Amino acid sequence: MSDDISIEVPAHDDWDAFFRANTAAFNADGDEDTSAAERVLFEPERCLVARRDGEIVGTAGISTRELSVPGAVVPAAHVTLIAVAPTARRRGVLTRFIHQQFADIRAAGEPIAALWASEGRIYQRFGYGLAARKLSLTIETREIGFTRPIPAEGRLREGPPADLREMMIKVYDEVYAHRPGWSQRAARHWDHRLADPEAWRRGSSGRRAVVHEGEHGVDGYALWRVTSNWTDAGPAGEVRVMEHVATTPAAYAALWQFLLTVDLTRTATHWFCSVDEPLLFMVDEPRRLGPRLGDALWVRIVDLPAAMAARRYLAEVDVVLEVTDDLVPANAGRWRLTASPDSAKCVSTVDLPDLACDIRALGAAYLGGTPLTSLADGGLLRELRPGSLAAATVAMGWHRSPTSIEVF
Ligand SMILES: CC(C)(COP(=O)(O)OP(=O)(O)OC[C@H]1O[C@@H](n2cnc3c(N)ncnc32)[C@H](O)[C@@H]1OP(=O)(O)O)[C@@H](O)C(=O)NCCC(=O)NCCS
Repeated sequence: MSDDISIEVPAHDDWDAFFRANTAAFNADGDEDTSAAERVLFEPERCLVARRDGEIVGTAGISTRELSVPGAVVPAAHVTLIAVAPTARRRGVLTRFIHQQFADIRAAGEPIAALWASEGRIYQRFGYGLAARKLSLTIETREIGFTRPIPAEGRLREGPPADLREMMIKVYDEVYAHRPGWSQRAARHWDHRLADPEAWRRGSSGRRAVVHEGEHGVDGYALWRVTSNWTDAGPAGEVRVMEHVATTPAAYAALWQFLLTVDLTRTATHWFCSVDEPLLFMVDEPRRLGPRLGDALWVRIVDLPAAMAARRYLAEVDVVLEVTDDLVPANAGRWRLTASPDSAKCVSTVDLPDLACDIRALGAAYLGGTPLTSLADGGLLRELRPGSLAAATVAMGWHRSPTSIEVF
């Protein structure tokens, strides 16, 4: 127990101490530029601190944002800034944060919570399921070529990210609602995204931007950095892609061609690609893209009937789910999901169940990227009525793999 530690809502003025405690637990020093960059997202009324003798020894935060999910955009608590000081850890502080957050998230009317985990083992016990994975690419740029010529239409324009900001916002807003796992961005999220403290550069240049202009205006952009590196054999620079967003195939291809052929570079990395990234199918040697699978978003269903009714489904389905949830008892019980590509309803029922699982499995499947069959094969979901698993797996899938474009 942690009787000497109280959990409180911080005040606006607590930012400096909040930031110091948070960065220290992440084994970083923190500096003024980073503090200023992070501060734009500080919503004190949605944060929690653990205090011992007045000192902050734990932090937790929520960003108020919407998240793209299959066929819809829903309010989703973006859980962030979780940290407990080394002198206060393993005494239940995180557990207390999580309990309080679930109550606050339900009160705020957000049906789901989402987060990036520093370590996968931390959040599963609280009902978070792995809902979106990502591909990290480390591309040997001289070892690959495009199998088809890149269309010459359109033109590229480079410039400081601040100058191209409005164009990037236009492209992002056109795309994000159709990409499960991407988060809505208000002005403050762009401020944060385009901030460029030295500590975030990790030996590379400042952030750069390039936009693609097609027949109908701006239709793509990339945010990237580059390193200046030399070996005895010559130039060995690296392009570090942070974001690559396009609304047309021509813009998508032209931006990749640009990023993969920057002079004096031999490598390009992009750690936030989707598992079905089109580039995989456009090059002659996909192995040299160096793809590695990783975890991206973890989703926690906080209000089950609201969450299940909020998304859309790939096919018609009528299924009764028996759900266990130790932390949010209102989610536990039997639920009839009646859904289609256009509508969804989820209501409490006493009918016999077709499928049984814990809330974590539903979180994993929520963004449409984790087949229920995988969860069943892994022992995380049980089929009680033959045939119901296949039907529900198809319905809960989606035509795009979910991913997340940014760590929050
Ligand atoms: C992760 C962290 C927040 C956990 O805080 P905490 O207050 O120690 O967590 P709790 O005491 O509530 O732990 C709850 C349970 O999770 C386990 N647990 C917590 N963090 C864990 C970790 N990193 N690895 C393995 N188990 C962990 C605890 O052992 C405990 O298990 P038990 O109930 O079986 O005893 C803290 O260790 C930390 O700040 N780590 C560094 C920063 C970080 O990674 N933050 C998370 C960002 S996404």
